[in-house]
Amino acid sequence: MVDSDKIIGLATDHGGFEMKEFIKKKLLVAGYEVKDFGTDSEASVDYPDLIHPLASNIDKGNLQTGIIFCGSGNGAQITANKYSGVRAALSWSKEQAKLAREHNNANIISLPGRFVSFELAWEMVQVFLMTDFEGGRHQRRVNKIPQIIK
Ligand code: RB5
Repeated sequence: MVDSDKIIGLATDHGGFEMKEFIKKKLLVAGYEVKDFGTDSEASVDYPDLIHPLASNIDKGNLQTGIIFCGSGNGAQITANKYSGVRAALSWSKEQAKLAREHNNANIISLPGRFVSFELAWEMVQVFLMTDFEGGRHQRRVNKIPQIIK
């Protein structure tokens, strides 16, 4: 893992705020740097306002990896995937988090802040960060994702 890969972008709405704070602490203890795009409290906010800045930075190549949250993980993931350079994977299990890297070369994991335990979320994050893309036939498939369907 190169140094720039150690900077992890974080973004959430209020639905994932507590989980984001928990994961942030775990990442820092584990030696990662974080760039936190907020939110910074449990006050109600609109998830696109927080997710777009992170996803945009991934899309531009300023960051390699992101972790996003909202109550369900859905709104955050849907927003991030509006960027052609983003592959954001909603994960509810360690197996999904692993496959998101191995098969989809996901560069963002989206976590449901209100539906999984913080410990499981941290386990998913660790698997996501430590797993490599398999390439091969999966690269061919990933290459076809940006195609515009009319
Ligand atoms: C906020 O209440 C909630 O709708 C949001 O966190 C997320 O689950 C949306 O997809």
